Amino acid sequence: MSLYHSVQVNPDSDPVIVEVNNLDWKSAYYRRERRKKTVVFLFSLIVISGCIASFWTYKASLGAMIRRDRKNIVRTGAYFQDEQLPQTSVGPNTTSTPAPTCITRMVAYYPGNSRRTITARQLSHLTHVIFASMIISEDGYLLFKSGHEERRFLKLKRNIESGNDKVKLMVSIEEEGVEFSFSKVSADARKRQTFFNSISDQLANLQLDGVDLNWRFPYREDLENQVKLIKELREHLDRLSEKNGRQNRYIISIVAPALGQTSNNQIGENLENLLEFVDFVNVMSFDYSIFYRNHTGPTAPLFSFEGFPSVNTTLSYYSRSQESSKKLNLGVAFHGTYWNNVNEPVKRENWRSLGTPKGYVERGQVAYRNIEKEEWTKSTGSWDEESKTPYILDQENKRFLSFENKRSLKKKMNFARKKNLGAVSIWSLEMDDSEDTLLRAVTTEGICT
Ligand SMILES: *[C@@H]1O[C@H](CO)[C@@H](O)[C@H](O)[C@H]1NC(C)=O
Ligand SMILES: *[C@@H]1O[C@H](CO)[C@@H](O)[C@H](O)[C@H]1NC(C)=O
Ligand SMILES: *[C@@H]1O[C@H](CO)[C@@H](O)[C@H](O)[C@H]1NC(C)=O
Repeated sequence: MSLYHSVQVNPDSDPVIVEVNNLDWKSAYYRRERRKKTVVFLFSLIVISGCIASFWTYKASLGAMIRRDRKNIVRTGAYFQDEQLPQTSVGPNTTSTPAPTCITRMVAYYPGNSRRTITARQLSHLTHVIFASMIISEDGYLLFKSGHEERRFLKLKRNIESGNDKVKLMVSIEEEGVEFSFSKVSADARKRQTFFNSISDQLANLQLDGVDLNWRFPYREDLENQVKLIKELREHLDRLSEKNGRQNRYIISIVAPALGQTSNNQIGENLENLLEFVDFVNVMSFDYSIFYRNHTGPTAPLFSFEGFPSVNTTLSYYSRSQESSKKLNLGVAFHGTYWNNVNEPVKRENWRSLGTPKGYVERGQVAYRNIEKEEWTKSTGSWDEESKTPYILDQENKRFLSFENKRSLKKKMNFARKKNLGAVSIWSLEMDDSEDTLLRAVTTEGICT
């Protein structure tokens, strides 16, 4: 499960939305891929049987192939809400705020299922890499999801050591499925202690610089316990930092949702209490389009209309003071969102109603590097001045894609500086193209030291 899809809010009341990563109009690409796989498969079949491989060898390789295929399918939860959005505080007048500050952190997530290796060039742009994710068990143990992910982590670690050993390495911690491990552990003193000890062990074993707690949809009942957990973790890690004679104390960050992703934003309501104990907050300010029920729209609008959530309203909401803004990381996504069965515009050219010929809304995601591969033509794209984002309307196939490009990311970076945000956090490096186009767009202005 990926970082931003791990929780379902109000699963009962949502309309059915089905991910469509293998539907008809993408067919050419997927058919090609499938044909390639079939050829490889048949070839290996011949080789294997030719080599007097036993029936069991054959069965094992088939199993691995099926598992690999399953992993390619992205499933997203649906985040919707009908209630009023939280009141947003008015941020500074961005048109008149003088002398934008510089960004002090450049944080990137590296998913454990990444196939791409992090490069020295990517590392030269970054200050922090967060491996996503390890799991908190119901008893409070910090674990890798699988042996495969552990090996990916170790490889990442080696690459950082040889590529740019100044980059800080952290792991993000999430709960698996619907175990509510964070809730259970935070409510129980013994389990909290297990969790802290397990974190200490992993910090030492894996030589990490810190942890990122991805518990971004706590319930109201968890409110006090969440603060307690993070406060005690801070104390625990500060003692450990001192004991280990660390120059820089161990880092703690948390993840916060975009506005509109939950009607019950405990992180937002509790922010002042949490900020005291954390070094920074990764605000996942993208995938706004996931909660558009029955129309398309910009996946990460910088600005919006009629009070619809946007990067601006989210970051304005979380920016409580000049000082605390520096702890906020503007989360940017290197993927786009697309829809099928797209009809006429509703409120805006890029807000289009959706047909449901199969009884459900068809929506999916595409990594920046795969946009052309999945047969979208960037040259036919348009720029939406209001949201400051690009989109592609594919009239022929009745589909629509909203995504980020160099121009939209530069606008977001200007916004981040004007808002005095401390940093950017990228989800995720591996979705960039091989020229690092989007990474360079966010880092061209440089990081102040
Ligand atoms: C922001 O400040 C500029 C310059 O002082 C002013 O022209 C503009 O109207 C202000 N905008 C808002 C939204 O207050
Ligand atoms: C940005 O968000 C703030 C807070 O919601 C709002 O007052 C302001 O008008 C927004 N700015 C723009 C340009 O939409
Ligand atoms: C989408 O749903 C809302 C609320 O249910 C409704 O008011 C609106 O007309 C719908 N829009 C379209 C384009 O169907």
